Amino acid sequence: MPDQYILALDQGTTSSRAIVFDHAGNIKAQAQKEFRQIFPRPGLVEHDAQEIWSTQLGVAQEAITQARLRASDIAAIGITNQRETVVIWDRQSGKPIHNAIVWQDRRTAGLCDQLRAAGKEELIQQKAGLVIDAYFSGTKVKWLLDHVDGARERAERGELAFGTVDSWLVYNLTGGECHITDATNASRTMLYNIHTGDWDDELLALLDVPRAILPEVRASSEVYGETAEGLLGSRIRIAGIAGDQQAATFGQACLERGMAKNTYGTGCFLLMNTAGEAVPSQNRLLTTVAWQFDDTRTYALEGGVFVAGAVVQWLRDGLGIIRSSSDVERLATSVPDSGGVYVVPAFVGLGAPYWDSYARGTMVGLTRGTTAAHIARAALEAIAFQSAELVSAMEKDSGVTLKELRVDGGASTNDLMMQFQADVLGVPVVRPKITETTALGAAYLAGLAVGFWKDRQEIASQWQEDRRFEPQMSEDQRRQRLGQWQKAVSRSRDWEE
Ligand code: G3P
Repeated sequence: MPDQYILALDQGTTSSRAIVFDHAGNIKAQAQKEFRQIFPRPGLVEHDAQEIWSTQLGVAQEAITQARLRASDIAAIGITNQRETVVIWDRQSGKPIHNAIVWQDRRTAGLCDQLRAAGKEELIQQKAGLVIDAYFSGTKVKWLLDHVDGARERAERGELAFGTVDSWLVYNLTGGECHITDATNASRTMLYNIHTGDWDDELLALLDVPRAILPEVRASSEVYGETAEGLLGSRIRIAGIAGDQQAATFGQACLERGMAKNTYGTGCFLLMNTAGEAVPSQNRLLTTVAWQFDDTRTYALEGGVFVAGAVVQWLRDGLGIIRSSSDVERLATSVPDSGGVYVVPAFVGLGAPYWDSYARGTMVGLTRGTTAAHIARAALEAIAFQSAELVSAMEKDSGVTLKELRVDGGASTNDLMMQFQADVLGVPVVRPKITETTALGAAYLAGLAVGFWKDRQEIASQWQEDRRFEPQMSEDQRRQRLGQWQKAVSRSRDWEE
């Protein structure tokens, strides 16, 4: 058999990426292209769906060329994507009827308030596993159908198609042949019943969404179709789909119940595998599909922190105390501790477990001796404190005590922060050799479907540790620091009128 490879398409919030992986899970080639962020008004975030598609196709072609491969060398394509973002397009022309509404967009916050006031929280949590928030796709779909001229009528006549970004890419890759999504992406829409594995009529009625626009929900690892002739050379099978955080959980080989990963990006997303049990959260975490093989769904508990790496950008662009993001570690290590300073980066409110849209950032514990270095250190510590709160909510919900936390994403290369993360968690933090876990997870899902990899054991055995950070802080100190952190958080809450 000639050497074969898997192509992963990682369509993120700020860039489209494509990575070619070999059989050992090593990167053979990669390409990346940023695209426009459209902010029509404060709180609104859109993407041009055509640009999402053209950049994604462009980087796929580039990665194949860079790897000096032909399409016939690619065993399959796996897709992973920014989740919750909504595209609606015309089935006939394939053209979007509006810009994509991005997960960060807050335009439907009022509608969410109405749903809450109507007492729908329990219903939505019970069926969809989600809290009511503008973050998820459902209210964005309703908004588009209500606000784009003639959209509702066309949707009811079956002329329009809705999809999260995975659907949009597959539709285009297959030349309009497949209108599908996978269970992980469906589980972020607020329209999908995570227990039955189907779109839910009651949720559809609640959000006024006609079934006619919905994609078919498929497993995360199966052959869905092939790329249209000529797009990437000859046809290539598309065989894996998962939302980016779920793909990263798979790429981190968190394949057993109780295993968890944290991705440190602009925000932080922490997922814990709860196996076949969709654990309802008592602590305002999300219950979500981790992946689906055949008809079997694995679930996860998820907590998201809205501002993580973004706090470092704020140190750079807002305060100007570092020149580039990579300077933060040096500045923060120039002092032995944060000198009693706490930074709560609630710039856009607080996510799990607070879900407080009205919280705002705060800094407490300043003294005459406070320096930029203390603030930088406190900002990094804040990322770790927020993640520690997610872990403790997860442990309460799942009854599982975390044995270690696997980490990835940009800020996971920051040793100081990873050590502090282990300290405040009281469990080891483990960084893998390959931190491109999102794309790798999508590659694994696709490769498993076409027999490129044999089974999940083979995948678990490929995971390799780069560095393990053991907790060094005493239990007393850990408690004291977490207590102080929570006190600081309380000062940031309910600020915005
Ligand atoms: O839920 C949003 C998440 O999928 C976005 O991830 O990495 O594209 O910012 P990212």
